[in-house]
Amino acid sequence: MQLASKGEAGFARHYTVLFGERWPELRQALVATSPKVLRVNGFASEAARLRDTRELTPLPRLPGCFRLESASERVTLGLDEHELLSAYVMDAASVVAARALQVRPGETVLDLCAAPGGKALVLLEALASAGNLTLNDRSRKRSARLKTVLRQYVPANVLDRVKLTAHDARRWGLYQPAAYDAILLDAPCSSERHVLGDPAELAKWSPSRIQRLASDQYAMLAAAATALKPGGRLVYSTCALAPQENDGVIERLLKRARHAVEVSPVSAPLGEASEYGWQIHPDRHGAGPIYFCKLTKAA
Ligand SMILES: C[S@@+](CC[C@H](N)C(=O)[O-])C[C@H]1O[C@@H](n2cnc3c(N)ncnc32)[C@H](O)[C@@H]1O
Repeated sequence: MQLASKGEAGFARHYTVLFGERWPELRQALVATSPKVLRVNGFASEAARLRDTRELTPLPRLPGCFRLESASERVTLGLDEHELLSAYVMDAASVVAARALQVRPGETVLDLCAAPGGKALVLLEALASAGNLTLNDRSRKRSARLKTVLRQYVPANVLDRVKLTAHDARRWGLYQPAAYDAILLDAPCSSERHVLGDPAELAKWSPSRIQRLASDQYAMLAAAATALKPGGRLVYSTCALAPQENDGVIERLLKRARHAVEVSPVSAPLGEASEYGWQIHPDRHGAGPIYFCKLTKAA
């Protein structure tokens, strides 16, 4: 008898081999979706932020974030006097990954796969009063959503320092080598949660999907490393569980000496270390999945 390697049965086999006895619980946590957090918009007025978070519990380890009690909790986001929304609802793990880049005011920053923009807002707030952010995404539809998010959350004078582009991230290194102080590469990935939630996706799943994505992710990561200035920082992240798309992609980059990057240690408020990076999984940490790795280019 031949065991299935594709479709729902192939998916179950693949992740059972990867996670062993842990898989049923992890699968359950993926299907259930963890509660998100409400992250206040640093550009909105303090009065609006206080008004809209008054009844929520702050998360001490994630400054500016408040707990939403259940995944289905509906929140009404209010506007401030300049018509900016007071908060953004997102996964706590995404906040952790975006903050790991430690963007500083005045830097030149690139978000290579930016839409719809939850992490881009975190980067932009960290830039504060000075610096430039380029937001790239190849999808026209998702970029339209990104534009809406920027309009809803960012004042016009700050938007002047934001550039939107729609290039293929795999080729970015050719366009702008050694140009950025900090780069976020939040790469397209397997997103097992999405696969589990979509019967059509699950039916056509195959291990070759992981290989194809890992190959694109490597091309994007190599391009990002080329686009970094000497001494620059790079955060590579995915919402995949498959190690081939996470530590596997990092390992491949580290083997090519010409990229001159090394892994920087991460200590985050949520999650656990992986071989090269950091992972936040919903069964263990109540958020994610997110994997990220921070790299620094030799000065
Ligand atoms: C994980 S999502 C990014 C989520 C986003 N960083 C956020 O926090 O809202 C990955 C994005 O990569 C974009 N993408 C996929 N292939 C791409 C490519 N070759 N070049 C640039 N963007 C790409 C997709 O359109 C998608 O919006």
